Amino acid sequence: MTCSECASGGANVFGTRQAKSQLKRYRKKGPDGTTRMLLNALTAEGVEGLTLLDIGGGVGVISLDLFKSGVTAATEVDASPAYIAAAKAEAARQGFADRITCQQGDFVALAADIPAADIVTLDRVICCYPDMPALVGQSATKATKLYGAVYPRDLWWVRALRNIGNPILRLMRVPIRLFIYRTAAVDAVIRGSGLVPRFHRNAGYWQVVVYARPV
Ligand SMILES: C[S@@+](CC[C@H](N)C(=O)[O-])C[C@H]1O[C@@H](n2cnc3c(N)ncnc32)[C@H](O)[C@@H]1O
Repeated sequence: MTCSECASGGANVFGTRQAKSQLKRYRKKGPDGTTRMLLNALTAEGVEGLTLLDIGGGVGVISLDLFKSGVTAATEVDASPAYIAAAKAEAARQGFADRITCQQGDFVALAADIPAADIVTLDRVICCYPDMPALVGQSATKATKLYGAVYPRDLWWVRALRNIGNPILRLMRVPIRLFIYRTAAVDAVIRGSGLVPRFHRNAGYWQVVVYARPV
């Protein structure tokens, strides 16, 4: 997927229907398993009084949960207008409207104007984007304290799923492609911005990572 496709509406894979169904699921069940793992790993580092930049934040689950753990303010950048609208509405419903700023667009294109934050997160976003070094590199430089991500594991069967899935998506004219990057390559980009690893856990298809900036 490119973010112009993501933001274009129409056959948008992250459109209004998907946003509604994600919100319904979140209200009923709370954060998904790997999102919960990421949230637990971040809160274990201490998040009280910190600010957040959540890139590709969807309906805003990470911001909403971290507000309850003491994060003071969050910026969500998402390429999908429908997800941004849902995140704003849910934040207002939960009484956090004054603590969240939402910006629609491709983070890589907007990065120069996005302020740094104590915590930066990308939950299941790296696999949507064709230029990992740009997305991960630019987002990592924005993290003054913690950097968390959930992205696909670098395994043969995960790549096999991508190899089967992408042609099907193309045939169905779904404007999204899965990108599976080498763990060593993602790790090198994050470390290259001065962050050091603090947490790593595998969970089926996904891996959950947290890095910290040494003081
Ligand atoms: C699979 S969804 C994940 C949403 C949410 N983080 C979650 O885990 O439920 C991927 C999200 O990333 C957004 N996205 C992908 N690439 C992006 C980019 N370069 N800039 C901003 N948002 C992006 C998409 O619009 C979509 O909302």
